[in-house]
Amino acid sequence: MSTPERFPKTTPATVEEIPLEELDPREFILEKIAEIRNKVGDEKAINALSGGVDSSTVTALGHRALGKKLITCFIDNGLMRKNEPQWVLDSFKKLGIEVILVNAQEEFFAALKGIADPEEKREAITQTFYKKVFGRLVGESGVHHLLQGTNYTDIEETVAGVKRQHNVLAQLGINTEEQFGYRVIEPLAQLRKPAVREVAKALGLPEAIYNRPPFPGPALATRIIGEVKPERVGIIRKATEIIEEELTGIEAFQSLAVLHQDMITGVRNGIRDFGFQIEIRSWISEDGKSGTPAEIPYVMLIRLSNRITNEVPGVVSVTYNITPKPPSTIEAI
Ligand code: XMP
Repeated sequence: MSTPERFPKTTPATVEEIPLEELDPREFILEKIAEIRNKVGDEKAINALSGGVDSSTVTALGHRALGKKLITCFIDNGLMRKNEPQWVLDSFKKLGIEVILVNAQEEFFAALKGIADPEEKREAITQTFYKKVFGRLVGESGVHHLLQGTNYTDIEETVAGVKRQHNVLAQLGINTEEQFGYRVIEPLAQLRKPAVREVAKALGLPEAIYNRPPFPGPALATRIIGEVKPERVGIIRKATEIIEEELTGIEAFQSLAVLHQDMITGVRNGIRDFGFQIEIRSWISEDGKSGTPAEIPYVMLIRLSNRITNEVPGVVSVTYNITPKPPSTIEAI
């Protein structure tokens, strides 16, 4: 994978992993609080919270370190799951952390218009997030420090070129200060997801957050093959809601729906119904680096198929992915 040319390269940072067995969460928290305070000094910092375990942990850690000197924003890109923005805001309010809601739906959809290529979609989301929406917020706030929840697996996969992760910049040698006007602080860069969860727990975050299944930065766009339009996000959002409801009892790392690009012939009430195809994926995995499909009971798959074809308008076909990662990936783009 090559880094887009418009990013000037610096030397990629090297990061040493702290394995779960070697992690002392309390000690780690104290160290990172000191490090964040040291880097930010008397200035202010900003961070974007998505509600995933990584960004939630960074938010809690950052607020412990900086208190009100940390501005936390939730950027609604229009690609989130049902009720997600409000759930995240409410969860943090209960912890005494105010989060600013930024509605950027139109900007993201405008940037994604007409794009079908997976990497171009990721690039459009990255650029809209960092340069337009976040860049503007940072510019308006006059803040130069950005706290970010990048974890060790993100760095590994990005550097290896498996995928262009949306939240990894410094490790690609991208100079964020020159490009976007801020310095990135990545306190979780040495931890994989299970270790991040331990830190989240030690920070006093509720279980609904520290045990939350991972959800990608580019959100539902990673589950739409072809163009990302509001109507297509609506389809995948509803299918995701059904899958998450039905599969809560399954011991899976992540369960998700994918909307395919090709339409397929179906039949409804004796009449041809040319419609959408939804693929279900449910993963057994340690940290998302590799994975195997969960052995979902057949009755449950049938129930999912019935609900999705009845409750998601236009869907005529539901399949279950039985391919491990590799060669599949967890998300579809
Ligand atoms: P993949 O699809 O690469 O997913 O096999 C591995 C894990 O990473 C999550 N994922 C992302 N997380 N930004 C993120 O923060 C991204 O761009 C991104 N893409 C994938 C995915 O949900 C899985 O847990």
